[in-house]
Amino acid sequence: MQNVGVIGAGLMGVGIAQVSAAAGYHVFLADIDVARAERGKLSIANGLGRLVEKQKMDQQQAEQLLGRIEPVADFAPMVNAGLVIEAATEREDLKRGIFEALGKVMGVEAVLASNTSSIPITRLAQASHNPERFIGVHFFNPVPLMGLIEVIRGLATSDETVKKIETYAAALGKQVVHANDAPGFIVNRVLMPLLNEAIFALGEGVANVRDIDTAVKLGLNHPMGPLTLADFVGLDTCLEVLRVLYNGTGDPKFRPAPLLVKYVDAGWYGRKTGKGFYDYSGDEPVPTR
Ligand code: 3HC
Repeated sequence: MQNVGVIGAGLMGVGIAQVSAAAGYHVFLADIDVARAERGKLSIANGLGRLVEKQKMDQQQAEQLLGRIEPVADFAPMVNAGLVIEAATEREDLKRGIFEALGKVMGVEAVLASNTSSIPITRLAQASHNPERFIGVHFFNPVPLMGLIEVIRGLATSDETVKKIETYAAALGKQVVHANDAPGFIVNRVLMPLLNEAIFALGEGVANVRDIDTAVKLGLNHPMGPLTLADFVGLDTCLEVLRVLYNGTGDPKFRPAPLLVKYVDAGWYGRKTGKGFYDYSGDEPVPTR
């Protein structure tokens, strides 16, 4: 496999494009229009520019990597891709539309993967032309720095499809874990109750934002406190995944904290909107409670 298609030039999509190009694949990067795909490539160029400044990458390497990323206006060039990864907005109708359109142009051997963090793979596979060649590949943010890919088989996913993804993940230098198609898979199943509980603790007045984050960061040796991480992931995403866990299992332990719901209602989604448990408008994040 020489070519990889990436659909969605948001945070996850550009990360996937970057690591795929770094592994030597030619990447077709698509979004709803070519201008967005171009903007995605520009954000990769800016990130690589910083690595060059810090002398972590030489200029030539950065240029070669960028040269392998080709923003495209539509899915037609994906006919040459052995693997297409969808990393579009987490909306099922939108993803289904993408898989239907892709089915018309993809080669007969190509694997179609979704980076969904919450929608069942078996259900999404129904929108693809061949559920045997459909699979979940869940990357983590920030993609270039996180060493894991969760691989999720749908009911019909073939062994050959799983092998192709294992080969791709190995080329990227990422460790694979296999999860069954259950709500939240592994990482979000374990992560979201932690973040949610931190938000309950904040809402109940157990401690303030700074102390909850410091307690977990230093007391458990986590790289980020849970409220910082919730802001980083996006509070809207946290709420959505918690609802998938709650509805998918029927277990009340996954009920979203009322304070999380309130923040999302207020449009405080965390870093991406400039405000969540911290305010990001200044040089340093400042707790909002
Ligand atoms: N490409 C390559 N390297 C990059 C890079 C990029 N795009 N961006 C930064 N780097 C390099 C930097 O140059 C830096 O190198 P240096 O330390 O040698 O100078 C190095 O990576 C680390 O950068 P930072 O100093 O910014 O990073 P930190 O050491 O502060 O770590 C972090 C940042 C990796 C984000 C760390 O805080 C962390 O691991 N946080 C937790 C993240 C996490 O849990 N993610 C998963 C979220 S859940 C998810 O994604 C699933 C979804 O479904 C919800």
